[in-house]
Amino acid sequence: MTKPIKKAVFPVAGLGTRFLPATKAIPKELLPVVDRPLIQYAVDEAREAGIEQMIFVTGRGKTAIVEHFDVAYELEDTMSERGKDMSVLNPTRATPGDIITVRQQVPMGLGHAIWCARAIVGEEPFAIFLPDELMIGKPGGTGCMKQMVEAYERVGGNLISVLEVPMEEVPSYGVIDPGAANGALTEVKGLVEKPPLAEAPSNKIVSGRYILQPEVMRTLESQEKGAGGEIQLTDAMAKMIGDQPFHAVTFDGNRYDCGSKLGFVEATLALALEREDMGEDVRAMAQRLLGQKELVSGR
Ligand code: G1P
Repeated sequence: MTKPIKKAVFPVAGLGTRFLPATKAIPKELLPVVDRPLIQYAVDEAREAGIEQMIFVTGRGKTAIVEHFDVAYELEDTMSERGKDMSVLNPTRATPGDIITVRQQVPMGLGHAIWCARAIVGEEPFAIFLPDELMIGKPGGTGCMKQMVEAYERVGGNLISVLEVPMEEVPSYGVIDPGAANGALTEVKGLVEKPPLAEAPSNKIVSGRYILQPEVMRTLESQEKGAGGEIQLTDAMAKMIGDQPFHAVTFDGNRYDCGSKLGFVEATLALALEREDMGEDVRAMAQRLLGQKELVSGR
């Protein structure tokens, strides 16, 4: 019997410098893709997977993330007086006590951010979500974490989500050395953070979702700095391979790297096109804009 996954850690202390000036006063996790902030997609994915406790590892200037999941009395009063539909606020409602924050006072890397949550995670397996990675299940399918939890119930241990990218993109990510594969599950024989292209063991990259055993916190405790001079979660996980089962799950769905501007625009367009209430209009708008461009450039 595997222990159920009830807790998730969301590292949200990053400065978001790639999106300046948009992120000068607004946390990047609150940038909206259509009409939901990035963090909301991640929390919804966690809830779908049966996770109850959301642990945000925050930092200075990030309090608005927590407020997003709070009750906004004035807003609700005004909306109810005006007879407005309040169901749009439903995803932002948290069960009291289920949103927990810890602070990462200094930006020392992803591994350090996760370690900051050790007292709240305790001795339980837990999930990690990097909200930059927007993972959208197929219509009628399930989200990434739910797929991972289902795999976890079969094989236990540690799991990470992976996907294949063009080889030249590999040095920007954590990369796995893949072993035997069985459907969407692949055994993980090794892990390396941001390897030079020539040393990359595959083009299967770690895509921002993890289910880890609590021992990782003890490994992180003494983890030395790695790629970029930061304490890397990937390095701590690599040390656990061999001691505990370690698998990768290839997500059946779409992934958008919202840590980059291009990925963010792609996500916005893709999700808007899929929406019942606006998809048709967005398609017509895109065609009109592209037509205008072609006229201007004479093509
Ligand atoms: C982090 C992880 C990396 C992973 C990536 C996914 O890197 O360290 O292993 O592949 O997220 O987006 P970062 O993007 O923080 O540099």
